[in-house]
Amino acid sequence: PEKPVVVVGSANADIYVEIDRLPREGETIAANAGQTLAGGKGANQACCGGRLDHPTYFVGQVGDDAHGRLIEEALRGGGVRLDRLARMPGAPTGHAVVMLQSDGQNAIIIVGGANMSCWPEDPRDEDLEVVRSAGVVLLQREIPDRVNIQVAQAAKGAGVPVILDAGGMEAPVPDELLKLVDIFSPNETELSRLTGMPTETFEQISHAVKKIHSKGVHKVLVKLGSKGSALFVEGEDPIKQPIIPASKVLDTTGAGDTFTAAFAVALVECKPMKQCLEFAAAAASLCVQVKGAIPSMPHRAAVVELLQSLKGADAS
Ligand code: RIB
Repeated sequence: PEKPVVVVGSANADIYVEIDRLPREGETIAANAGQTLAGGKGANQACCGGRLDHPTYFVGQVGDDAHGRLIEEALRGGGVRLDRLARMPGAPTGHAVVMLQSDGQNAIIIVGGANMSCWPEDPRDEDLEVVRSAGVVLLQREIPDRVNIQVAQAAKGAGVPVILDAGGMEAPVPDELLKLVDIFSPNETELSRLTGMPTETFEQISHAVKKIHSKGVHKVLVKLGSKGSALFVEGEDPIKQPIIPASKVLDTTGAGDTFTAAFAVALVECKPMKQCLEFAAAAASLCVQVKGAIPSMPHRAAVVELLQSLKGADAS
């Protein structure tokens, strides 16, 4: 049987406010619209794995409240296995305020809630069992580093590759976590913040990546927004992947999560690295065309169709 993708991480209720511009300090502005949708970097990545038809588990924590139920329903709808989703009485489900501007760009503030509090001191045996059974484990930084380290140790011990998405926390990534990771995936801003180096040009990015390599991570997958992405394998030439242009950009929220999860799905299906990058870029291109994080995760058929249409265009 196919080994599952296992995502250990956060789930948030994304409280969307659609605005023409960000408010200035001390100013109150009216939003054009607002709604609450399921999100959170961990839940987004899990839902993406499910929609791409790969067996996917989500290991995480929500509160026993309406936001928790919203997330649970969205994940179940995405075909995600929820055996290891803990409902924690007494802790509110995490939430995020997503300020979505008319050009599709966003600014997000997260409130940790159950994502950060009440993880048991020692990891649950059942959670670690699922981790050890995985084909790949996906981590982000919206749950305590301590939990990520425990999970990465279990994965490493079982020979399961770990992909760590850098997003979610400003604090530096502990070296102890980095050295357990197979692929580290920052965007260019996170790469700059983590290395203290500029990342405006490709050359600068390559230098900053060397600093991450020196911490024991041999593969770094950098997400470059509208400039695409690049995979740096230590000692090899970087593989660059341009974006696949979208006909409209409505909302970039969750595009990075879609990219990382789709890459992981292709990786666990043993596709060559270049194809993993293309698959991820196609999934991200579809994601930005729909509002919301989880609502915008594409189904496999749509990704395959987009890739085929590009190949057809190449051939003609
Ligand atoms: O990466 C996008 C996600 O970041 C949102 O869904 C929000 O919940 C935050 O976790």
